[in-house]
Amino acid sequence: MIRDAVGKPWLEPTTEGQGKFLDFVVEVVRRTDHEPGFKVFPRRSAGERSFEWMIRRRRLVRAYGARIDVSEATVHVAMVGLVFRRIAHPKAFSNRIYYSKKESIMKVYVAGCGGMLGEAVHKVFARSHVTKCSDIDQNEDWLDYCDFRNFSQYKLAVESFAPDLLIHLGAHTSLEYCEENPDDAYRTNTLSVEHAATLASAHGIPMVYISTAGIFDGQQLTYDDWDQPNPLGIYARSKYLGEHIVQSRVQKYFIFRAGWMMGGGPKKDKKFVQKIMSQIKAGCTDLKVVDDKLGTPTYTVDFATNMERMVQTQFYGLYNMVCDGETGRFEVAQELVSILGLAGKIKVTAVSSDYFSSEYFAPRPPSERLINYKLNLRDLNLMRDWKVSLKEYVDEYYRGYLG
Ligand SMILES: NC(=O)c1ccc[n+]([C@@H]2O[C@H](COP(=O)([O-])OP(=O)(O)OC[C@H]3O[C@@H](n4cnc5c(N)ncnc54)[C@H](OP(=O)(O)O)[C@@H]3O)[C@@H](O)[C@H]2O)c1
Repeated sequence: MIRDAVGKPWLEPTTEGQGKFLDFVVEVVRRTDHEPGFKVFPRRSAGERSFEWMIRRRRLVRAYGARIDVSEATVHVAMVGLVFRRIAHPKAFSNRIYYSKKESIMKVYVAGCGGMLGEAVHKVFARSHVTKCSDIDQNEDWLDYCDFRNFSQYKLAVESFAPDLLIHLGAHTSLEYCEENPDDAYRTNTLSVEHAATLASAHGIPMVYISTAGIFDGQQLTYDDWDQPNPLGIYARSKYLGEHIVQSRVQKYFIFRAGWMMGGGPKKDKKFVQKIMSQIKAGCTDLKVVDDKLGTPTYTVDFATNMERMVQTQFYGLYNMVCDGETGRFEVAQELVSILGLAGKIKVTAVSSDYFSSEYFAPRPPSERLINYKLNLRDLNLMRDWKVSLKEYVDEYYRGYLG
């Protein structure tokens, strides 16, 4: 084992002459205290002494930077030293690196994970946790079927997985659908949150619930985490009631309020960016965009990343979590066109919300701009500027989309 550990970084990469230059031969011998002229050091000092000796003799450190081949050798020596220290002090290293990492691995159940945010949450969480994701729309092979309106189905799915964390993600997110189908809106967006809260509190596990900037009435220009919501429509009300349920029924909860979601790409994005992109793809050269709606874009990947960071803490509570920067629909459309390099070819024409009143008839606040005040105070705001995130979103998810 030691020969492998030493041989890999140190001997294998050497070019002709380097072995001689180091003048150092590794001989693997059976450990014995009785061999004349041979003293077995305790495990912890053997590696350290060898390297002290080598660095003293070969003056690698002094030559560092002068010659690239010597610098490389120094790096190899440092790597070998590290390997030795790991062998000599397995406990110290496992405590510092592996053990604590292992400790933070969680079993995470994500309900309603088949949508635009779910795509990013699955991607981010599955990297370092054990995940089980479900949805009524099984559009991925990593999704199980579960309708969270059905309590016994939800309970069975969660309990058979026995998670450390329950993320209740899904909802009906079309404001118009919710206005026209209030019973289903409340069953899906509110009563199902009761189901999740019951499961989380019964098992004493933390729960995550996603709320929305749309719960405000827009009479203020911006809203921090402590401003008073006043929902205008059924969707907003159904989501705001969800906040109350979680706060009153779950001891360890995170509520994250998102703004205008952008994520998932052409396949999953049901919102503004995809609506503009599909118009452009269809050949539209004059985009009509409202200039009387203010808000904050929220990139799903940033949101999921910040969420993953937060659930590692015990700072339970309610947080605004949107991209940085203040903007509105009109500016987002202009920026998108500019990112695509189509500013000279595609016009963005400002219209008022009345222009779309038959298509988007659900009430919407004039401003739903959020500020991540609590995340900032806790120094845990990982959300990037919306323009940076929008560019990354387009680059990553829409490559080749416009042909
Ligand atoms: N989109 C936004 O702009 C926005 C803004 C703020 C907050 N949020 C919140 O963020 C969360 C994620 O939204 P999203 O943007 O990712 O929406 P999404 O793309 O519509 O994804 C939601 C997913 O939940 C599923 N779902 C609906 N009813 C379900 C049920 N009874 N059981 C299991 N799954 C069900 C949906 O399936 P179907 O597609 O078949 O209905 C969909 O796959 C939601 O809680 C939403 O309220 C969204």
